[in-house]
Amino acid sequence: MTTATQTTSGLRVMISRDEIAKRVHEIAQQINKDYAGEKVVLVGVLKGSCLFLSDLARQIALDTTFDFISVSSYGQGKISSGEVKLAKDVDTPLQGRNVIIVEDILDTGLTLTYLTKLMEASQPKSLKIAALLDKPSRRLKPIQADYFGFKIPDEFVVGYGMDYAERYRNLPDICVLENAGETER
Ligand code: IMP
Repeated sequence: MTTATQTTSGLRVMISRDEIAKRVHEIAQQINKDYAGEKVVLVGVLKGSCLFLSDLARQIALDTTFDFISVSSYGQGKISSGEVKLAKDVDTPLQGRNVIIVEDILDTGLTLTYLTKLMEASQPKSLKIAALLDKPSRRLKPIQADYFGFKIPDEFVVGYGMDYAERYRNLPDICVLENAGETER
């Protein structure tokens, strides 16, 4: 078992699998309470949210369905242009439904600002955001998660679904990628 101070191959554990499990359980309990007697649709933002969504969903004791959405940020080199484009829409109608967008990390807020506007156009009964991580110091848009796991400093993290150039998504802990240099976000 790794610990929060162990460094292996340029990876430093920031949030351990045990801390993640405890916090995901707490978020699920809160969702169960907030939506008691209701149905919910979890809309996972591909690909980073996949492990968070799987762990969260298994602890939600409500009538629950899943859908997935995918966006791309276009930019030159390693700097995002800030332009978000839809790569894959949801497959099911969201009108009149309780929608929870499940995201790995709320960073500048551009992605979730775009997605909430897009989904509001479908007239859901309610729309909330569950983001595992929140980097408030990087925010460019005034958006907050209704449910969040951890607030973290401005460090590039990988693991538990999050990647650097598609790698590290399978790590069970959330780790800082040391010496990542200028990272694409
Ligand atoms: P935002 O639009 O800037 O809020 O960015 C959200 C997306 O940027 C997340 O869904 C991630 O895909 C990516 N991202 C932001 N920070 C990190 C990070 O530290 N590690 C991995 N991906 C990140």
